[in-house]
Amino acid sequence: MKQRLDEWIDKGKVDTDYHERQFRAPYRSTVTFCDWLDEIGLMVSNRELRIIDLCSGQGANIYYMSKRYPKSTFLGIDINAELVDKGNEFFRDNGITNCSLAVGDIYNLDAKYIGGFQGVLSFQTLSWLPEYESPIKAMTKLEPQWIAITSLFYDGQISCTINVKEYDDSLKIQRESFYNVYSLPLVTKCLKISGFNNCQVTPFEIDIDLPKPNKKLMGTYTEKLEDGHRMQISGPLLMPWFFIAASK
Ligand SMILES: C[S@@+](CC[C@H](N)C(=O)[O-])C[C@H]1O[C@@H](n2cnc3c(N)ncnc32)[C@H](O)[C@@H]1O
Repeated sequence: MKQRLDEWIDKGKVDTDYHERQFRAPYRSTVTFCDWLDEIGLMVSNRELRIIDLCSGQGANIYYMSKRYPKSTFLGIDINAELVDKGNEFFRDNGITNCSLAVGDIYNLDAKYIGGFQGVLSFQTLSWLPEYESPIKAMTKLEPQWIAITSLFYDGQISCTINVKEYDDSLKIQRESFYNVYSLPLVTKCLKISGFNNCQVTPFEIDIDLPKPNKKLMGTYTEKLEDGHRMQISGPLLMPWFFIAASK
């Protein structure tokens, strides 16, 4: 299935607030993901690691990580040149020297990146691409020691291709995007085929309440269950967030 690039590049379609607000306060998923990467020993605050974040947006996640892991260096790659310029300007203006962004396409990454990084990151993007296999192959092709991904996954042998269409008040399509849920056994098999045999997986359970948006469009909110756990919901969908970490 071909990627619809307009949703990522067309000015009117890019949700700039999604990228900006993470600089003000990182998502809970980003903080919890880094806690987990620490716990399993992939990120270490006093080590000099070189990390690449694929489909990094404006770079808010690597900005958060650059403060948490000050000795490491971070490169974010994104297809949207405007997000890349804005992010680099932010890093320059704020004296952040261990973060930078470059324009690139995950389906056609520059060979100069191969072998240059210990860790490959992918935050909340895989489910928004048409399928998981080519992006995962692009990650393994970089020959890192490990790959860590946050996305929507199912802990069983089912994958769902979900094409979401959001309409404006006059019922014209205003946004079309994937919210695919990929089978964990299939995704980990794909990583193992490329030699990333040690796959660790954990569900992401959010620890704060998120209010329901006023507009009945996509936008994550939480509902609390009787046992205290929170379900994450966006529009008509449950959001089964998981973290995956794979190493050789
Ligand atoms: C849902 S956003 C996630 C951004 C960021 N990882 C975050 O967590 O805030 C997906 C990002 O993927 C980028 N993207 C989409 N297709 C891409 C491609 N083929 N190559 C590189 N980046 C791409 C978009 O421009 C967008 O910034």
